[in-house]
Amino acid sequence: MSAPLSTLSPLSILVLHGPNLNLLGLREPQIYGTMTLADINQRLGHDAEQWGITLDCQQSNLEGELVNAIHQAREKHQGILINAGAYTHTSIALRDALSAVALPTVEVHLSNIYQREAFRHHSYIAAIAIGQISGFGLDSYRLGLQALVNYLRRP
Ligand code: DQA
Repeated sequence: MSAPLSTLSPLSILVLHGPNLNLLGLREPQIYGTMTLADINQRLGHDAEQWGITLDCQQSNLEGELVNAIHQAREKHQGILINAGAYTHTSIALRDALSAVALPTVEVHLSNIYQREAFRHHSYIAAIAIGQISGFGLDSYRLGLQALVNYLRRP
C-alpha cells in the first residue's frame, strides 16, 4: 500500500550553477539577459513553493566544488538541475560525477548553445541527462525544473 500524500517528504532538487553565472546581470547581457542569479533562484523558489518541492541552489566557479556538490546530492536530493556553464563543454569530471550519483539530471542553458561558437555545440553532460533545454533564458531553468519534477513524480 502506498503512503498517504501528507506523510511523503517533499521532493528535493539540487539546482547547480557553474562558473561565471554569479556574474549574471553584468555579464554579456545581450546574450544572457539582465536577470541576476539571485533573481533566477528567487523565481525558481517561487515555482518550487507552488509545486510543493524543496530547492537547494548552489553556484561555484570551481570544478571540484561542483563535483563535491554533486556527490553530496546523492544523500539529500532526488534530482539535479544543472547549468554547468563552460564546464558543459570541457568537464569529463562533472559528467562522471553525475553518472556516479545516478540522480535524474536535466541540463539547462540560458543561451542557445547550438547558435553560438562551434566549441559550445558539444556537451559532455547531454548524453547522461534526461534532457536538455537551451536558449530560453530564465524559462530554460523553469521548464527544466518542471520537466524534472514531472519525471520524478511519474508513477
Ligand atoms: C551557458 C552557455 C555556456 O556555453 C557558457 O559557457 C556559459 C553559460 C548558458 O547558460 O547559456 O557560461 O551555459
